[in-house]
Amino acid sequence: MSYPYQIQSREEYDSVYQKSVADPEGFWSDIAGHFYWRKRWDKVLDWNFTEPDVKWFSGAKLNITENCLDRHLGLLGNKPAIIWEPNSPEEHHRMLTYRDLHLKVMQFANVLKNNGVTKGDRVCIYMGMVPELAIAVLACARIGAIHSVIFGGFSAQSIADRLQDANAKFIVTCDGAFRGNKEIPLKSVIDDALVQCKFVEKVIVLTRTRTPVSMIKGRDVWWEDEIKKVETQGNADCPAEEMDAEDMLFILYTSGSTGKPKGVVHTCGGYMVYTNYSFINVFNYQPGEIFFCTADIGWITGHSYIVYGPLSAGATTLMFEGVPTWPDAGRFWDIIDKYKVNIFYTAPTAIRSLMGYGLGPVQQHKLTSLRVLGTVGEPINEEAWNWFHEHIGKSKCPIVDTWWQTETGGILISNMANVTPGIPTYATYPLPGVQPVLLDEQGGEITGNNVTGNLCIKFPWPGMIRTTYGDHERCRTNYFATYENQYFTGDGSFRNEEGMYRITGRVDDVLNVSGHRIGTAEVENAINMHAGVVESAVVGYPHEIKGQGIYAYVILNNDQVDKELFKKDITATVSRIIGPIAKPDKIQFVKGLPKTRSGKIMRRILRKVAEGEMENLGDTSALLEPAVVQEIVKGKL
Ligand code: WT7
Repeated sequence: MSYPYQIQSREEYDSVYQKSVADPEGFWSDIAGHFYWRKRWDKVLDWNFTEPDVKWFSGAKLNITENCLDRHLGLLGNKPAIIWEPNSPEEHHRMLTYRDLHLKVMQFANVLKNNGVTKGDRVCIYMGMVPELAIAVLACARIGAIHSVIFGGFSAQSIADRLQDANAKFIVTCDGAFRGNKEIPLKSVIDDALVQCKFVEKVIVLTRTRTPVSMIKGRDVWWEDEIKKVETQGNADCPAEEMDAEDMLFILYTSGSTGKPKGVVHTCGGYMVYTNYSFINVFNYQPGEIFFCTADIGWITGHSYIVYGPLSAGATTLMFEGVPTWPDAGRFWDIIDKYKVNIFYTAPTAIRSLMGYGLGPVQQHKLTSLRVLGTVGEPINEEAWNWFHEHIGKSKCPIVDTWWQTETGGILISNMANVTPGIPTYATYPLPGVQPVLLDEQGGEITGNNVTGNLCIKFPWPGMIRTTYGDHERCRTNYFATYENQYFTGDGSFRNEEGMYRITGRVDDVLNVSGHRIGTAEVENAINMHAGVVESAVVGYPHEIKGQGIYAYVILNNDQVDKELFKKDITATVSRIIGPIAKPDKIQFVKGLPKTRSGKIMRRILRKVAEGEMENLGDTSALLEPAVVQEIVKGKL
């Protein structure tokens, strides 16, 4: 057995879980003992959820890259760390061994240093899915710089907001990115963002698409030139910066119920232990196996289960640059057969979209290497689960349905492959160390089984959020103020007879579109920026492929306009302000919105109409103008 803390059976899970609750400090300190620390901790855990103030492994010193790279060199130096499959199947793949990756991370860490980056600086990374993205992330961690990766689908305005919030003076980007048959001009988007961000000192640009880019003297430098400088300087080594367990590792922005995304902060020690522990146990990873997570490193799933979890476990992680449907809908299955992937982790939305292409693209493939499947990002519907199980897993691979969030750092509720049972639509049981509770609106705990409530976690786990960057109060009000002494997830959940959790979705004004979190307030703000718009209200509605679609009710200041053209203009505005991922699927023009006498929009009604529920709209007597509801129902798209 190669991972001493890998759980092997249901009985072991039960006993480990009990121990983890009875003695959390003893439990986590045993696990943490298997990592490489420059100095051990003085105290395993210090916490209160009122401020909140959570510290794991206080006093310990480490560098996460020594755990992801250096410590593997002896045994795994020549083993593949990263396999990279390019967008186009015509282009050659790349393979980086642990030794290669270690060297490249050190080289780029020296590039960062040469360009003035020091410990604690925030570095924004805006790149496509190329190995250099993982290298840039790890190079930041190597020198103690705080990375803030921004997904390539965000607009210049979103980037500018994030750069300002983090006061990031350094950017790493690519000239462009390949995604399917599209080329995304990343550097040009950065240039647009930088018009507003004069404080940015350096932009390091990797060549990928070699699309023409403007390179500003003194500010913009090419990645390749900088690497050459480091090579001629002869300083290949870059010793790892000694970090405190509670020093910041990264910031990752995510949407909430307010208009402005917040910078979720994770720290070095706890995040490392938690992503590693959850990776090894949920996926039942066996040494030598190929692990393929289809997420983008721009999201938390990529941070935790493409980079840090797998690499800290000495695993082989597969990175894919492209999209599931190009050149055809067999792209994932090609990759699985080509590299003999053993564990495949993807999103329900991808499964549903591939189901739409029928079995043709699947049947041309063997898929015999697969041993474990996983899903993340949103509840998986039974039909998609069955299709995945039968046609991809050939009815022999367990599917782990992993529930977690950007804020949780790693998987909190999931079955464990070959250890605990999986049933469709259930995330099932909490991982050891995780203590979920269901609460009612008044904050009372709902005990027993066959119950539904708001999902909270009552005890800290090492991977949890520590603060929201630059605004600790926001962290408190968002997650720790709804219920006293609880971390509130924002999700609702059902707990069945056997104590298994089934996540029912967000209970706040946050949408989950194709597994991406989007705040309704953010979309409304963007729509309201259009010159012709007076007011808008955004809600989600069930969407066959995306899980949820975005439905916008919009009041125009002039009714006598070309409505179809206006819809396109509004969509373009949202794309410009947030990014294409937040574009409304449906826009309905209305004369008024259902409001209470105090001016609050009754979203419940809008949600019902968007979902197609026209009859039982509930009590509308509190409305200022009940007549607007009739108009809205009549105009439903
Ligand atoms: C929200 C978090 C965690 C990585 C991807 C999304 C929903 C996530 C599941 C699941 C049901 C899920 C929740 C959660 N969610 N996984 N297995 N079953 N719902 O990260 O953007 O932070 O979104 O995604 O609603 O709160 P995120």
